[in-house]
Amino acid sequence: MDHASWQDLIQAALAVRQKAQAPYSKFFVGAALEDRSGKIHTGCNVENATYGLTICAERVAVYKAISEGCRAGDFRRLAIAADSPELTPPCGACRQILWEFGGDLEILLVNLAGESRCYRLSDLLPLAFDARFLSGPAPPVSSPATPSQAS
Ligand code: THU
Repeated sequence: MDHASWQDLIQAALAVRQKAQAPYSKFFVGAALEDRSGKIHTGCNVENATYGLTICAERVAVYKAISEGCRAGDFRRLAIAADSPELTPPCGACRQILWEFGGDLEILLVNLAGESRCYRLSDLLPLAFDARFLSGPAPPVSSPATPSQAS
């Protein structure tokens, strides 16, 4: 891996990690997603007292980028920073979201000890489900229910 070329992404992931809102787990994660123009979109995890509404750093980065006009296929690389002796990989839900918008991204995991390892998303999510499987016969067109039909 050409570590130098990842430096901006690593620094961005480490910096945004400090903005994480993780009062429950106290596990702070930062993600930095590079689009094909070279722009970096960052995200941190944001937790909620209901726990289940917590959103991971990776998904925040993806959704921020999408909301700024990026589209599926516009992304090149992702760096994920967390403070764990064993490098923290993206959770299963995030892998699926990353596949949807990023395809076979290069993903660099880093920790605060300066260790890192690069993966391809297809290694982390083999045999992924995606829109290709939905391209069979179109479903029957149904019109919205009228009030009389709905009762
Ligand atoms: N978390 C992430 O943000 N990304 C990951 O890759 C793994 C987990 C967050 C979610 C939650 O706020 C905390 O880490 C503990 O699971």
